[in-house]
Amino acid sequence: MHKSVKFWDRMADGYSKKAVPDEAVYQKKLAATQSYLTTDMSVLEFACGTGSTAIEHTPYVKDYLAIDISSKMLEIAESKTRLVGIDNLDFSVDSFESFQAPSDSYDAILGLSILHLMDNPELMIEKAYRLLKQGGVFVSSTACIQDRMPLLKYIGPIAWSVGLIPKLNIFSQTELEEMLINSGFTFEYQLTKEEGSDACFYICKK
Ligand SMILES: C[S@@+](CC[C@H](N)C(=O)[O-])C[C@H]1O[C@@H](n2cnc3c(N)ncnc32)[C@H](O)[C@@H]1O
Repeated sequence: MHKSVKFWDRMADGYSKKAVPDEAVYQKKLAATQSYLTTDMSVLEFACGTGSTAIEHTPYVKDYLAIDISSKMLEIAESKTRLVGIDNLDFSVDSFESFQAPSDSYDAILGLSILHLMDNPELMIEKAYRLLKQGGVFVSSTACIQDRMPLLKYIGPIAWSVGLIPKLNIFSQTELEEMLINSGFTFEYQLTKEEGSDACFYICKK
């Protein structure tokens, strides 16, 4: 079992009731992503949480697989999906680390609010690259704590030690960009801090 499962199972109910921090920025991210989606695409989202973003994007693609380590998160995601009546969205309990699929399987892969929570984000970016078809897009929204959330850099380890937050991987925007470039991605779209995004949001192409 992934070491963070219990933490995220515990968070699931509260997470599903939490509003997005900035609705306008969220809408911009959805619109930017959807400008790359077409109805013949197969999409993978890892760490999908309670499925809100997956539900937004699925009507624009052929099929959408959303995975997460937390079965509690996915229970909520599945009940929300039943309510809206989408039938091309599937959920599966899995970590991105152990997720298996052939290379060049997906037209788009999304990993939102997750790379800074992973032990080895570089390896996960490389995995996303490998799983994407040539010309496919990787959509990533990541807290670059080192330079964009300085307070969290100091408070984070204390909050983690008492179980309030998951373990954070602290890296800068430049380091994230290097990981993406080193994996082979080229940048297509970026939402900047000046446009209201606290997180580093990129759409990159293989
Ligand atoms: C901060 S939440 C983000 C959820 C969603 N992507 C969003 O933007 O609202 C992090 C999610 O990642 C999941 N998670 C954590 N580590 C994971 C991993 N290694 N593989 C897949 N899911 C993971 C957690 O269960 C949780 O649902």
